[in-house]
Amino acid sequence: MLILGIETSCDETAASVVKDGVKILSNVISSSLEYHKKFGGVVPEIATRHHVENIDKVINSSLREAGLNVEDVDAVAVTDGPGLVGALLTGISCAKAISYSLNKPLIAVNHLKAHIYSAIMVKNAPKFPFVGLIISGGHTRLYLVEDFSNFKLLGDTVDDAIGEAYDKVAKILGLGYPGGPVIDRLAKKGNPSAIRFTCKAVNGTLDFSFSGIKTAVLYYVNSHSAELEVKGFKFKADVCASFQEAALRVIVENSMKALEKYKIRSFVVGGGVSANSRFREMMKREAVYRNFKLYFPPLNLCSDNAAMVAGLGYRLFKSGIKAALDITARV
Ligand code: KG4
Ligand code: ZN
Repeated sequence: MLILGIETSCDETAASVVKDGVKILSNVISSSLEYHKKFGGVVPEIATRHHVENIDKVINSSLREAGLNVEDVDAVAVTDGPGLVGALLTGISCAKAISYSLNKPLIAVNHLKAHIYSAIMVKNAPKFPFVGLIISGGHTRLYLVEDFSNFKLLGDTVDDAIGEAYDKVAKILGLGYPGGPVIDRLAKKGNPSAIRFTCKAVNGTLDFSFSGIKTAVLYYVNSHSAELEVKGFKFKADVCASFQEAALRVIVENSMKALEKYKIRSFVVGGGVSANSRFREMMKREAVYRNFKLYFPPLNLCSDNAAMVAGLGYRLFKSGIKAALDITARV
């Protein structure tokens, strides 16, 4: 079965054709990232205009790459949230038009669940239930995943998301946007024990808080401007490594608590921050030590893409879930 997936929740205009939920025939992404850089974050108006101007070209090239005509696909899956309202509506309107005009089923896909699915788009997917972790620019959430549509929330951030914290720390250090990839690289050159930043789970729950550590980094950098002048690169590398170690440690700890609490042996990670090399290293060590199965997405599926939407769309369709033509954005 061939599913056309469409993803426009944030700054990536993406379309993909996936066969039977696992085989990616095409995965086309047009990002508006470069237009947001000078603002230090995604500007919804710019993102939406980019979607409107590019969505038809992106869909056409995804079909061309897959060697198909639009009539050949069996259904259309589209992200209906969470995300930027105007951005989501562009993809949703386009998916509805294709569905209506060609009389193909429409499937609405939750963006966060699709991120989790990106790690298990494989033949040997873990059995339900498993623990799922979303670490992205907008979310830091732990779920007990009972099936492809039932995700029970176990822990959430009470303030900033982890990706947002990376982006803000990068901004404080003048490292540009997005901050995650550059902090990931710079942290490798720094000493993770150089500065003692603390980041704890909220009151012993599975919830997260990252605004405190972000503020601590800001105060530290402001009060060490002389050191920043002298040491430059080394100073920034130490701040990155120390911030990253403390922020990721709490995610690892809460994840381990979730696995223990629900006696689960499979752990699935998704979202932009799942590309982080230090996080992968920390989790792999835990998986060996505690003997559980660990699933990360391939690097090309960590950030926003439509293959994960088409893939999860297939699973939902197979379990009888379809959308009506009156769906709207669920921000
Ligand atoms: O999932 P995503 O592409 O978009 C959302 O749905 O939010 O995630 C984007 C986030 C940004 O905050 C970016 O800084 C972060 O993912 N990110 C990383 C890395 N690559 C991207 N964070 C840490 N390490 C990375 N290697
Ligand atoms: Zn995302």
